[in-house]
Amino acid sequence: MKLWGGRFTKETNQLVHNFNASIGFDQKFYKQDIRGSIAHVTMLAKQGILTNEEKKAIVAGLEGIAKDIENGTLVIDGTHEDIHSFVEAHLISRIGDTGKKLHTGRSRNDQVALDMKLYTRDEVLAVDELLKTLLEELLTIMKNNLDTYMPGFTHLQKAQPITLAHHMGAYFEMFRRDRSRLHDIYERMNYSPIGSGALAGTTYPLDREYTAQLLDFYGATLNSMDSVSDRDYLIEFLSAMSTIMMHLSRFCEEIIIWNSNEYQFVEIDDAYSTGSSIMPQKKNPDIAELVRGKTGRVYGALVSLLTTMKSLPLAYNKDMQEDKELTFDAIDTVKGCIALFTGMLSTMEFKKDNMNKSARNGFTNATDAADYLVNHGVPFRDAHGIVGQLVLFCIEKNIALDDMTLEEYQAISPVFEEDIYEAISMETCVQKRNTIGAPGQEAMKQVIAQAETYLKEN
Ligand code: ARG
Repeated sequence: MKLWGGRFTKETNQLVHNFNASIGFDQKFYKQDIRGSIAHVTMLAKQGILTNEEKKAIVAGLEGIAKDIENGTLVIDGTHEDIHSFVEAHLISRIGDTGKKLHTGRSRNDQVALDMKLYTRDEVLAVDELLKTLLEELLTIMKNNLDTYMPGFTHLQKAQPITLAHHMGAYFEMFRRDRSRLHDIYERMNYSPIGSGALAGTTYPLDREYTAQLLDFYGATLNSMDSVSDRDYLIEFLSAMSTIMMHLSRFCEEIIIWNSNEYQFVEIDDAYSTGSSIMPQKKNPDIAELVRGKTGRVYGALVSLLTTMKSLPLAYNKDMQEDKELTFDAIDTVKGCIALFTGMLSTMEFKKDNMNKSARNGFTNATDAADYLVNHGVPFRDAHGIVGQLVLFCIEKNIALDDMTLEEYQAISPVFEEDIYEAISMETCVQKRNTIGAPGQEAMKQVIAQAETYLKEN
């Protein structure tokens, strides 16, 4: 059934039908479409635009359709243009002429705006829930690794020692911000467009606030032209999801490096690795690589929709139908990536000895040796130069600062005393750093306590 056959004298060209149709993908929100329709007719009856009997018949018909799609007895086929036409056609064939009243005071423009919003609103929450599980996993690792030492890097060169807890804590903050972005989007998007009509409202005395309430919105949107053509919330959601993917991708990149033969900081569990068809020894971090790879696809969706919306005149234009496939794909991709990443992380073995060893060489305590001199009255710039000489000496002898004899220290600067070894031990280097956000245990414990409260409350 076509919703608009009246003014046409010819059949639609088949290729045009195929090109124009959206049922192949908008069937994804059949539940939301039906829920929206039920709210709409409930409001129409309250306003006396439909009788109670008509409303009851339509609601029962719609509920039957939802049930039958669910249990597979009603299959959504491609002969209809979109899910809206499909549902309406089946309603009419089930309950007769009363079904033709469903679309009173409504356009597909506000209908599809509503469906898409209802669908994505749930998905914002679903992504948020997955992030919460990931944060809980990160927090567990943090609590268990307050003294698991590892090198911290800048330029991918060993810089200063940190702990695994601290490193995980950095990602905790990223994903916490991601959740807060989702929260903001939800707050901004949660207004109902239904009742805006095609673009200019309707002449029926609709109670838009009531429909909004029935659908758990905060209220009704305030401009009917904007309501049918606003896709900002999708762009924001795609942007937030792109940022989530960027964070996951950075994390994956680190895990791939850590999992390499050269680093061996972690070993990805067999259940989350794959092998090579030719090289029997291989165990590859494919999941981490795929998550990293899929990031491009989610960015693509964001840029694609931004480009689609650019230059669109008010109000609805069919270009907007393009919002769906890419958003659905991005949502499915991001949900899959967070879930798999969390699984990989929670089963991954951290090779603490290797991390520790790595932190002990590479002069990650050089800054602390300089600070030692500063604490003994040497100006920092001079201290920096002296420790540079120490490092050079060690590189020539292929030893660490900790391996130098006191005589060797004093030959370069008489300021050094026996307590230098204590001052540059990795434990000291890390545990003395206790300003807010630093890797020392005291600082980390405060952050962990905050994180626990945050997860309880959010
Ligand atoms: N399938 C369309 C979409 O996704 C539904 C709205 C159709 N409206 C119209 N005026 N053709 O945007």
